[in-house]
Amino acid sequence: MASSPVLPWKTKMVLNIFSVVADTVCRSNGTINRPLINFLEAKVSANDKPYRGVKTSDIIVDETRDLWFRLFIPTEIHKRHVIPLPVIVFFHGGGFSLLTADALGYDKVCREFAVKFSAIIVSVNYRLAPEHRFPSQYDDGIDILKFLDETEFNRFGFPTFADLSRCFLVGDSAGGNLAHHVAVRSGKTNFKRVKVIGQISIQPFFGGEERTESEIRLAKAPLISVERTDWMWKVFLPEGENRDHEAVNVSGSRAIDINGVKYPATMVVVGGFDPLQDRQRDFYKWLKRNGKTVKLVEYPNAIHAFYVFPELPEASEFITEARNFIHEVRGK
Ligand SMILES: *[C@@H]1O[C@H](CO)[C@@H](O)[C@H](O)[C@H]1NC(C)=O
Ligand SMILES: *[C@@H]1O[C@H](CO)[C@@H](O)[C@H](O)[C@H]1NC(C)=O
Repeated sequence: MASSPVLPWKTKMVLNIFSVVADTVCRSNGTINRPLINFLEAKVSANDKPYRGVKTSDIIVDETRDLWFRLFIPTEIHKRHVIPLPVIVFFHGGGFSLLTADALGYDKVCREFAVKFSAIIVSVNYRLAPEHRFPSQYDDGIDILKFLDETEFNRFGFPTFADLSRCFLVGDSAGGNLAHHVAVRSGKTNFKRVKVIGQISIQPFFGGEERTESEIRLAKAPLISVERTDWMWKVFLPEGENRDHEAVNVSGSRAIDINGVKYPATMVVVGGFDPLQDRQRDFYKWLKRNGKTVKLVEYPNAIHAFYVFPELPEASEFITEARNFIHEVRGK
């Protein structure tokens, strides 16, 4: 069986560049060349002038740990409708150690989400490993929700038509892992205004000690070869921990007990060329066994991170599917 579908040359080129960069900055001694990666990653600043129907600003939550988010506000939609817009808290991918909320690719993705989903997007710039290990990223995630819950809107330019009682958590890859753990924590938190009602888990990054069938078959997949993901887990987990930790093997025998924990309606997105697919299906089944509302969406030809490549047909199929899910969960 092929380990990768036939891809446009442009996609292949980006995948290759990313792989070379990742292998250059992620050192075998468990450190990362942060100055080099900061230099290589293309970033864009926030822009108060609407571009592609969206204006953006960066909001600082805690300066001491450089926790902030990029706020995306669609400017055309609200002229047409006076209804409040749902709030999507978005967590980017990058194996917990790469990329940022102001990375060009994620700025583009969030702009598209804001317009296509008719939503306010809060794209979280959480701390990265190995400088900051588990649970820093989850702490940052839940603290963003607390900030949204407690801060007066007019103090940071949050639009008054944002509906915090209709919050969604969305994340891809490591961001999908993060969204899940933030969902569990928010289910145990009493918020005044924030209500997390939905989650879109895009190819979430999970793992375990024992290799699954898809990890073996697709061990050399682009972006997330097994060798690379082993490195990511090693520098993320507490020293001496293994990949059966509750943060990684989320549905394994050391899993967090979510029975009776309030958990949002969830859509799990799986790609047929993603080595992580077996674990993502296990995650889906585990949520279902625990009585959660969950839907599985499969794209048999999709590679990991397919949705950031607009030239791939599944990228637009995903947008439609996700929009329908949001509308369904949001209700009227
Ligand atoms: C890891 O390797 C880099 C580059 O060779 C070096 O600068 C750094 O000091 C090393 N760090 C540790 C903790 O060994
Ligand atoms: C880890 O995950 C795999 C696959 O989801 C599962 O079969 C295995 O039992 C888990 N291991 C532990 C120790 O929980």
